[in-house]
Amino acid sequence: MELKIPDHIAIIMDGNGRWAKQKGMPRTYGHKAGADTLRKILSYSGEIGVKYLTVYAFSTENWKRAKEEVDTLMFLFKAYLKSEKKTLMKNNVRFLVSGREEGVSKDLLKEIKKLEEETKDNTGITLNIAFNYGGRSEIVDAINKMIENNETNITEETVEKYLYTKIPDPELVIRTSGEMRISNFLLWQIAYSEIYVTESYWPDFNKEELIKAIENYSKRDRRFGGVK
Ligand code: IPE
Ligand code: IPE
Ligand code: MG
Repeated sequence: MELKIPDHIAIIMDGNGRWAKQKGMPRTYGHKAGADTLRKILSYSGEIGVKYLTVYAFSTENWKRAKEEVDTLMFLFKAYLKSEKKTLMKNNVRFLVSGREEGVSKDLLKEIKKLEEETKDNTGITLNIAFNYGGRSEIVDAINKMIENNETNITEETVEKYLYTKIPDPELVIRTSGEMRISNFLLWQIAYSEIYVTESYWPDFNKEELIKAIENYSKRDRRFGGVK
């Protein structure tokens, strides 16, 4: 069977907490393992020719969690920005973050901007991290910016111009850990994305699982409302 490699894959990296619990470990242990999985999946996605990889790392709803867990997620993200710089440059990865700035520490925002700037001319895969991201807040923020700029005659293209990130819509959305829901991820962009859910927890997700998802996607009949 011919494998159709999507240009853009978006992943809801879910199940870190349950993965850790199953091992009798704290949830934060699962988040550390999840960061390692991301490193591997990014590298493999680049190798097989994926052009954009968007990953959901922290939602606007995740602030509801215990302070210790939120602090660890902030810490891990900051550590990732520092530890990955060399590898991202070496692998020609362009790094982007999509999300609301409000609520994120100045320090972390500075590191994000720095890495975006340093990798902006890289021409390999784009890694887009959805952080402090919510699909609804993205749309609300876009509406407010359109009003500020006195936009009139608003079309779909106008709205797209105001979203956090200007990259093509994902053809494939993968969610790990078996949950059949979107949890406020990329509401606008996934209007016609194919959805694939695997039971594996994110720390257990690997190359083979990614290929399985792409195989499944390759068999889909994408009609976009038309008739084939
Ligand atoms: C996904 O794993 C990572 C984040 C949401 C930050 P979870 O932390 O949601 O793990 P589960 O779903 O509780 O197992
Ligand atoms: C979605 O997972 C957010 C991320 C993966 C970052 P959640 O674990 O927060 O979603 P729900 O609560 O199961 O819907
Ligand atoms: Mg979860």
